[in-house]
Amino acid sequence: MNNFEKDVFEGLSASKKSLKSKYFYDDIGSRIFQEIMEMPEYYLTNCEFEIFQKQSEEIFNTLNFQSHFNLIELGAGDGLKTAELIRYLTANKISFTYTPIDISQEANELLSAKLKLEFPELKISPKTGDYFEILKDMQNDDTPSLLLFIGSNIGNYLTNEAAALFDLFNQSMKAGDKLLIGVDLKKDPNIIHQAYFDPHGITKRFNINLLTRINRELGGNFNENNFDFEINYDPTTGEVKSYLKSLVQQKIEIKKIELEVEFKEGETIWTELSKKYDLSELKTLLQNAGFKTLQHFTDSRKYFSDSVFEKI
Ligand code: AVI
Repeated sequence: MNNFEKDVFEGLSASKKSLKSKYFYDDIGSRIFQEIMEMPEYYLTNCEFEIFQKQSEEIFNTLNFQSHFNLIELGAGDGLKTAELIRYLTANKISFTYTPIDISQEANELLSAKLKLEFPELKISPKTGDYFEILKDMQNDDTPSLLLFIGSNIGNYLTNEAAALFDLFNQSMKAGDKLLIGVDLKKDPNIIHQAYFDPHGITKRFNINLLTRINRELGGNFNENNFDFEINYDPTTGEVKSYLKSLVQQKIEIKKIELEVEFKEGETIWTELSKKYDLSELKTLLQNAGFKTLQHFTDSRKYFSDSVFEKI
C-alpha cells in the first residue's frame, strides 16, 4: 500500500474516523483552495498579504543579513505574498537567491515563469520534492538563509507534530539562520467561523472532494450527497476542527484497500485541524526547538502574525 492507501485505511478503520487534510490537495483540491483564498471571509490571505506589502522593509531589517542570502520557501504555492517581499528586495538591490520548494513540479514551473516575468533579474532556483531531503542540503551551504513557512500552514499540524517539524527545521539550519512562520491568531470566534464555514459552500466542496478522490483513486463508492460538512471552533485551544458528517446510516466499500466502512447516521470523519495560536504559545514552541524570537509582524487588525525567529 502507498501512503495515501495506508492513511485512508487506518483513518477509516479507527473507532473515531479521520482523514488527513494533506490529501485535500490533488489538482482539483488545489484549485478549490485557490477559490477559498479569494473569499472575503477567508481573511488569512489578505492579512498576510498586507503584512508583506507594508512591512517588508522592517522584516528585512530584522534579519540583519549583511550579504547575499538564500530565501527558501516551503510549499510556495502561487507565491502571491512572497512576491511582495521579493518586490521590496529587488527594488532595493538586495542580493538574494529565491528557492521555492514544492512537491508539485507544475506549481514550481508556473511560479518561476510568473516571477521571471515580473522580476527579470531574480535569481530563482526552484526545487521539487520532499521538504526535508532538500533542506538537508541547506546546512552544507554557508550562505545565510531565511526559511519561510507562511500561510498558516503550521495550523494544520497537531501541536506535537508542529514541535517535531520545528526540530527538523532546526536540524537543517545553521546558527544565525532565520525562520519566518505565518500563523493565524486567536480572535473573535465569529470571524473564524465565517472563514471556515463559509456561506458559499466552497470549503464544504473542498472537504467533499476528498471523498471524490477516494472514489476515483481507491475505487470507493462514497455518495457525496450523503455527507454534510461541519466545523467546530474551541476558543480556548484555538482549534478549528472540520468534519464530514454522514447524513444516513450507510456502508461504504473501498475496493483497492479492501475496506468496508459502516457509518451510523450523524457519525463524523474528522478531516482537518486549523489551529489558531497565541504569540506566547508560538514563542514557547519555537524556544523548545532551539529558536530565539526576534519579532512578530502583525496586520492592522492583529488577526495574523508573521513571526521571525533565529536559530541559536
Ligand atoms: C492550507 N491551510 C492553511 C488552510 C487553513 O486555513 O487551515 C486550509 C483550509 N481549510 C479550510 N479552509 C482553508
